Amino acid sequence: MERIENANLENKKVIIRVDYNVPLNKNLEITDDNRIKESLKTINYCLEKNAKLILLSHLGKVKTEEDLKTKSLKVVAERLRYLLNKPVKFIPKTRGKEVEDAVNSMKNGDIIMLENTRFEDLDGKKESGNDKELAKYWASLGDVFINDAFGTCHRAHASNVGIASNIKEKYLGFLISKEIDNLTKITNNPKKPFIVILGGAKISDKIGTISNLIKKADYILIGGAMAYTFLHAKNIETGKSLIDTESIEFCKDILQKSNKLILPVDHVVASSPESSDKKIKTTIDQEEMGLDIGPKTIELFKNYLKDAQTIFWNGPLGYTENEAYQTGTKEIANYIGSLECISVIGGGDTAAAIINMGYKDKFTHVSTGGGASLELIEGKELPGINL
Ligand code: 3PG
Repeated sequence: MERIENANLENKKVIIRVDYNVPLNKNLEITDDNRIKESLKTINYCLEKNAKLILLSHLGKVKTEEDLKTKSLKVVAERLRYLLNKPVKFIPKTRGKEVEDAVNSMKNGDIIMLENTRFEDLDGKKESGNDKELAKYWASLGDVFINDAFGTCHRAHASNVGIASNIKEKYLGFLISKEIDNLTKITNNPKKPFIVILGGAKISDKIGTISNLIKKADYILIGGAMAYTFLHAKNIETGKSLIDTESIEFCKDILQKSNKLILPVDHVVASSPESSDKKIKTTIDQEEMGLDIGPKTIELFKNYLKDAQTIFWNGPLGYTENEAYQTGTKEIANYIGSLECISVIGGGDTAAAIINMGYKDKFTHVSTGGGASLELIEGKELPGINL
């Protein structure tokens, strides 16, 4: 699909699919607005072209009536209004007269945002199932479609793939273009040495990514809870540490086939993730759990990273929800920031942790896509990009 720079947007009604699936706390306040900030370039560009903007996004998964109360995009529209310093009209509907009246009365430079596209899922999964009629309806609201929802590109839903198949003029926005340009530095002949850092808890979601990266990387440094599954697969005592039991066989197999995987040599252990009775140890006792990489591992990882030309990192290296176990992630982030290399963070929890710790600017690119960035790195074609 062509990029936004090739679009004629003057005076047009432009539908922009953004990914405003942002985290909310119990009080329904946004805890990380990075995805909204990253969408501003495309929005401002369209405004400079005197377009009328119709924004569509999902927020979470919508399965029950209760979700209609807790997953409204109203709070997101308010944040966007604040960030843009311009009015953003929120329409609490996904279709119908209120939507059509609002669209028909738009003037150049106006911005409207419809309600969460997944509210349509309550009535037979119309958004997630790419319902033809719904896709056609949304497409009929505008003259041009811009997909800028990178985080949703691994989904073929009515609000991305569906609209694109019902409109002639369609383009990729600046955010998606930036994601593709940076993530392909990892997938297409990465400059060597190429070092991958993987953390987080679940291995099963990342088997495809690991299998693809192991062919390209010089080394894969493993931290986070994932490391304990690998250690367990080597028959090393991991105590009460989190183990991804369904992935043990995969770990055994890959450890046997490759010597590129580098595992922690020491750990920060405690009796539970909430406890702060932490100790640094090279072994883990039965009643302990590993919650962060230890200082020797930090030095070991730095040694592998020091000459890297390309670094890809997905997954925090410790239980970063508790500040007591953020040291490994912080030290490695700081160290990468001091290196002259291409450094890319896959989205999801790592991106959230890095942004919350204030390290975003230390990296070449911090992806806004969780599943989407992993699937792209895995080598899959993303339906939302190949429209
Ligand atoms: C994400 O947060 O990864 C995207 O917004 C996609 O959300 P989903 O996994 O609910 O489809």
